[in-house]
Amino acid sequence: METDWNDHERKAIRKIESAVSSPELEDVRVLYLGRKSELALALRGVRDPQTGALLNGIRQRLEAAAEARARALADEELERRLRDEVIDVTLPGEELPLGHLHPITQVRRTVEDAFLGLGYEVRDDREVETLEYNFDKLAFGPTHSARSPRDTFFFDADHVLRTETSPSQIHILEEKPPPIYMVSIGRVYRRDAITATRYPIFHQFEGLAVDRRLTLADLKGTLLHVMRALYGPERRVRFRTHFFPFTEPSIEPDVSCGICGGSGCRTCKFSGWIEMGGAGMVDPEVFENVGLDPEEWSGFAFGCGLERTAQLRHDIPDIRALWEGDLRVLRQF
Ligand code: PHE
Repeated sequence: METDWNDHERKAIRKIESAVSSPELEDVRVLYLGRKSELALALRGVRDPQTGALLNGIRQRLEAAAEARARALADEELERRLRDEVIDVTLPGEELPLGHLHPITQVRRTVEDAFLGLGYEVRDDREVETLEYNFDKLAFGPTHSARSPRDTFFFDADHVLRTETSPSQIHILEEKPPPIYMVSIGRVYRRDAITATRYPIFHQFEGLAVDRRLTLADLKGTLLHVMRALYGPERRVRFRTHFFPFTEPSIEPDVSCGICGGSGCRTCKFSGWIEMGGAGMVDPEVFENVGLDPEEWSGFAFGCGLERTAQLRHDIPDIRALWEGDLRVLRQF
């Protein structure tokens, strides 16, 4: 069958011009101009000059068309990449989400501020203590229940996770002579079951003032100042008598429950009051244990839980919320 070369050329040009990518154009080029193309085979068998001129003319025009199309595709490609892959260095970067301080840390800083304002030094002590510092020098009796491994985490016969920040009292009294005004803040550990109000790890702040002629009135005034700094004037404070091995007399300060307003709820164990910890005048036995004369020196001490403080400040009904790290909760404070 005779080939209609004009028709062949038109078809080839149409295919070349409609190729949408370089690989597709290459396929079309091989089909119409390759060594095994109909045109190449025909050129090889040419017998007369007119046919030769006709076929060469077609080949030149097809080659020119393929080249033009290749350039156009390359231009298009460049255009597309310039458009799509552009990086605008003047655009602002992606914003990283910023966190904020945990409520316990916030309370810790408020406590530090309140005491720094009174001229106290802030202290941080070790969490692993010897029995000597956790109990003996604080005048705990040999049968006190806190010495039991049921109440306290023991490492070995002589080392415990401190059960309170009170060992700081002994450390600072052994380190330097009075007058002393210090607050020690940190973690303490007790073998309690986890409930709405208790957690086996918690934080305390411990205050100690040792000077000449300090009285219970100084302790009361100091505690009132700090409670007001923490809770504001609308919270009420009361003191109850109590017992601690290392204070005499001992008291317990309570703050009115801010969650129920004093009518009774789960957090305040339906009493209307929240215990803030303990306090009292430094026991003469403690002074003797650190080599100070109890006739010359007097002092007061107090210890309060930071979790309780955070719960009251933010009306958090369940202490577990402070340990679970649930951002839906923590973002609110
Ligand atoms: N350490 C006591 C407690 O954890 C609190 C306290 C501190 C009491 C200082 C008196 C003086 O219960």
